[in-house]
This record gives sequence, C-alpha cells and structure tokens, in this order.
Amino acid sequence: MSFNDENIIEVKNLKKYFYSGLFQKECIKAVDGVSFCIPKGRTMGLVGESGSGKSTLGRCILRLIKPSSGEVYFSGEDILFKNGEPKQLRKQMQIIFQDSDGCLNPRMKAIDILLEPLRVNKFINSREREPASELIKIVNLPEDLLNRYPNELSGGQRQRIAIARAISLKPTFIVADEATASLDMLGQSQIMEVFKKLKLEYKTSFLNISHNLNFIQRTTDIAAVMYSGRFVEMGKTKDIFNNPAHPYTRSLLSARLKVTSFSIKQNNRLNKKNFSNLTQPVSGCSFYQYCPCRKSVCKDESPSKKYVSDDHWILCCH
Ligand SMILES: Nc1ncnc2c1ncn2[C@@H]1O[C@H](COP(=O)(O)OP(=O)(O)OP(=O)(O)O)[C@@H](O)[C@H]1O
Ligand SMILES: [Mg+2]
Repeated sequence: MSFNDENIIEVKNLKKYFYSGLFQKECIKAVDGVSFCIPKGRTMGLVGESGSGKSTLGRCILRLIKPSSGEVYFSGEDILFKNGEPKQLRKQMQIIFQDSDGCLNPRMKAIDILLEPLRVNKFINSREREPASELIKIVNLPEDLLNRYPNELSGGQRQRIAIARAISLKPTFIVADEATASLDMLGQSQIMEVFKKLKLEYKTSFLNISHNLNFIQRTTDIAAVMYSGRFVEMGKTKDIFNNPAHPYTRSLLSARLKVTSFSIKQNNRLNKKNFSNLTQPVSGCSFYQYCPCRKSVCKDESPSKKYVSDDHWILCCH
C-alpha cells in the first residue's frame, strides 16, 4: 500500500505451516507468504472463507503462535525474533479472540477479568476498582454484571467483556477477530463507535477479521481478501467493495448482495460450492477448480500480482 503515514504493522512474506498425519507428512499452509502494511491509526479488514487462515495470521502477528518464516515489524521494530518475553508489546498489541468463551477465565469474576491487565502492568493497585466500572460502561453493560462469573453471562455479554479487557490498556494495535460475531445489530454499532473513539483519541490501529462484510465495509480503510492462506485481493476498502477484481472476491460479495430468489438462482452455481482448499496444489492457482474465469494457463502457472489501480491489486494468472 502506498499510504504516506508511518506504518504500525509491516508483515513480510509471513508463512505458517501446520504439519499433521503419519510422520507429520500432511502440510496445511494456513498462511502462505502474506505481505502487507497497516498505517498508524488505520483499520485493515480481513475477509475470507472459514479455514482460509485469518485467525492464524492474526495470532502470528501477535506472536501468540510462532510463524514458520517471515517478518513482522511493529512500529518499525522486528518483533518475531526479539529475544525474551514481549511484555512491552503485550501492552501495546491486544487481541479480541474469536472464541470469547474460551478466553475468559471461568474462575474469575468479570471485575477481575477487566482489572487483571491493569494490575499485572501495575497501572493500579489491588484495591482499586473504579477502572472496571468505566470499562464496563464503555461497552454498554450494566455495572452489576461486574460480580458475575463468565458462565453467568450471555454470549454477547462475554464478548463485550472480552472487548473491554482488550481495550483496558489503550493499546496502539488491536486484532479484532470476529469481535462482533455474537452481538446484535445495536451491539455491533455500539462497538463500532468504541473502536472509532479509540482511533480518534489514541490513534489505535486495527486488524478487523470478520465474515460480516457490512461490518468490514463500514469500519475499515483498507481490506484484504484471503483464500487458502494467501491474499488474493487487497486495496482501499471502497475499491474492493465497489470494484472487486478477483473472481473469489466477486463471488464472496455476490453471496452477500444478491438476496432475491432471482439472484440466488443466478449465483447458485458459485454459492453452492464449498471453496475450501486446505491442501494447495503443487502448481497453478489454488482457486482454479472453482474459478468461473479460469483459463488453461491457470492450472499450471502460479498466480502473480496484478495491479488494478495504484493501491489495489489481485493475485491472478490473467
Ligand atoms: N493448531 C493447528 N494445528 C493444525 N492445523 C491448524 C491449527 N490451527 C489452525 N489450523 C488450520 O489452519 C487453517 C486456517 O485456520 P484459521 O483458524 O486461521 O482459519 P480462519 O480463516 O480463521 O477460519 P474461520 O473463519 O473459521 O475462523 C485451517 O485449515 C485450520 O484447520
Ligand atoms: Mg478464525
């Protein structure tokens, strides 16, 4: 991307391969050579089908899992091969996990879950409680929920607690992995406001991962479409949504836009298919077998980057 702003995140040729099966011979290329930048104070959206590698990418950037190779820079600093526990980074980089049930300690009350990062980082002492009241208000929950355990909260309430916890240290970068998935429409717009405020007040940057294309369209500045471990299209969000160029992006957007029975019939051929392609072909384009625009060359030739406009590109053979 050619934004002039300073980048908060720079990712270069990041790969994460998982090995499984007998003698670890089966290789899942969850992230397969991804490069991008997120300018300070901007939000990048990441969309793609289930299993395309979105969460793995988010976790690799935050060093929650070790990438197989590649580079990640946070404010210009190489963070993957930095020695020692990245405690300073943890303060500045946070994640809202896709599974909010699994990420909240079931033995802690909401109040302690919210205050834990502030206590661990010695921003408050063990007796202070007011920050929890402020945080729970930000995510529009009533204060009396502070004394409940996670299993006494609804899925949406747990999600809001996870969001409040992630923003408690006012991080400069947040990976929001399906952050609004279990919220109703009102909840989603409230959280969008919270993110907007963080962006304005603290210049927080985001990587928003979501299946909710409306959410991505409304909350992000730049967007990437991931398929089978790779970015197949990237650009300004408005260009991706107004002028999708990759056949996979087009099918993804048409599945959202065409809701009339006529349109469903029109798109049936594409939408009925499960595009999942976890083990990539040795050569050629991984979308080949589903692509409505495929040519014989796509079967053998590796797709290359083609620019649609200055900041907008696709990974395609033709
Ligand atoms: N620890 C692991 N061991 C082996 N394979 C894994 C592991 N974690 C993820 N994978 C595989 O890597 C691929 C990408 O998974 P990932 O969770 O990143 O997908 P995703 O795009 O976030 O999907 P969703 O939209 O469903 O959340 C999947 O095929 C998944 O099965
Ligand atoms: Mg995921």
